[in-house]
Amino acid sequence: SDSPQANIGVVGMAVMGSNLARNLASREGNTVAIFNRSYEKTQTVLDEHPEAGFVPASNYEEFAASLQKPRAAIIMVQAGRGTDAVIDELVKVFEPGDIIVDGGNALFTDTIRREKAVRETGINFVGAGISGGEEGALNGPSIMPGGSDESWVTLGPILESIAAVAEGEPCVTHVGHDGAGHFVKMIHNGIEYVDMQLIGEAYDLIRRGTGKSPAEIADIFAEWNTGELESYLIEITAEVLRQNDAETGKPLVDVILDAAGAKGTGAWTVQTALDLGIPVSGIAEAVFARSLSSKPAQRAGASSLPGPSTTVSVDDEAAFIEDVRRALYASKIIAYSQGFDAIVAGAEQYGWDIKKGDIAKIWRAGCIIRAQFLNRISDAYEEDSSLVALVLAPYFRDAVEGAQEAWRRVVVHAVQAGIPTPAFSSSLAYYDGIRADRLPAALIQGQRDFFGAHTYKRIDKDGTFHTLWSGDR
Ligand code: ATR
Repeated sequence: SDSPQANIGVVGMAVMGSNLARNLASREGNTVAIFNRSYEKTQTVLDEHPEAGFVPASNYEEFAASLQKPRAAIIMVQAGRGTDAVIDELVKVFEPGDIIVDGGNALFTDTIRREKAVRETGINFVGAGISGGEEGALNGPSIMPGGSDESWVTLGPILESIAAVAEGEPCVTHVGHDGAGHFVKMIHNGIEYVDMQLIGEAYDLIRRGTGKSPAEIADIFAEWNTGELESYLIEITAEVLRQNDAETGKPLVDVILDAAGAKGTGAWTVQTALDLGIPVSGIAEAVFARSLSSKPAQRAGASSLPGPSTTVSVDDEAAFIEDVRRALYASKIIAYSQGFDAIVAGAEQYGWDIKKGDIAKIWRAGCIIRAQFLNRISDAYEEDSSLVALVLAPYFRDAVEGAQEAWRRVVVHAVQAGIPTPAFSSSLAYYDGIRADRLPAALIQGQRDFFGAHTYKRIDKDGTFHTLWSGDR
């Protein structure tokens, strides 16, 4: 028929787009229009999923005509140029009040730029972070939409219908205007990097400290997953460590090349945090650890460098493993504390009204960093939304208090044994930094005044001071 049938459309029928479209179609009340630049993919999706009742379009005009007003379409195409190309086409066939959603992994500053340009046409543009990979797209992702309040009226119920559910609540919230959603998705990915790095360091410490096999360490992680560390990443770590290679029979983790890849969102987080002046040292170390791992020539050349000459062994295995668990938990608290500091700073810089507790809530299911622990974060912000650092919330303060001695022992062990633990160590250094009564920053100010007359402030009176240094002549 000629009357528009669909209440939501998806552009891009590659894996993410088709999975999201199937998710949408599976929810009561949704009829989904689909479009792909080349029709083959649309045809394949139609053939493979007749149950979805998709409304296919072979060009942008047809696609627009198949959507009820205000039209809403989610773009799931190759990030960057693909996204810009589709926006250009949709703007031609959509009308003021309609909604274009970019569900890809866009850099939030690109989203701010696109939103501004699209808004001039009267059309709404929503950058939405969608986490959870292919599986999440199909069965329920964590969704972080930005954009206007007007677009949320139409989009909210649709996104709520497909999002993951945590304790009865959909894992989606209107994060804030323009690029806020993609900004928060970026920070999510940065936290994911440090979460993974910390788990990697814990594994390395236990493996080298106790000589346990990957399968035995899998049991330790499975056990940890029943406590305060309970999370998707801890759960899959146990599974990865338990896996044997079909070809060689060896633990798969021993056969996988130890060079970590990255798609760049961790680096974006660190670059953004540098600009905002927020120390996300855990995320930075996690990104750098991946870079270090993937320089084979350098590592081969450096492999003869000396390390500790005596082996540092662990005398009480069980106590050591418990220390590592506590150090991991404390470091994880610092990682999230830093990540939320970046969210606060971003919100301030870009004028977003971001509810920190709601962000923790929508990360409880659907996404890679999903964890029990996120309930503690939303509780902390609900009790005190102006917390100056997450680690200062009573629950987390108690947790680090209970963990700090173990944390220090683990870092000492790592240093003595020559095991690299950049994320454990830098998290502890950050913790000691923010709690320090006096920092050597005073000396740095002295140095700056010495060589550059940069001036300094005093602790005992107001004003700006410069010393006529004896060497400054
Ligand atoms: P995947 O989900 O497999 O990683 P991707 O590389 O992120 O996919 O995106 C591929 C999708 O982006 C495809 O649907 C592609 O359309 P085609 O099937 O016609 O190649 C779409 N895409 C890429 N560039 C595009 C453009 N300039 N305009 C429209 N769609 C584009």
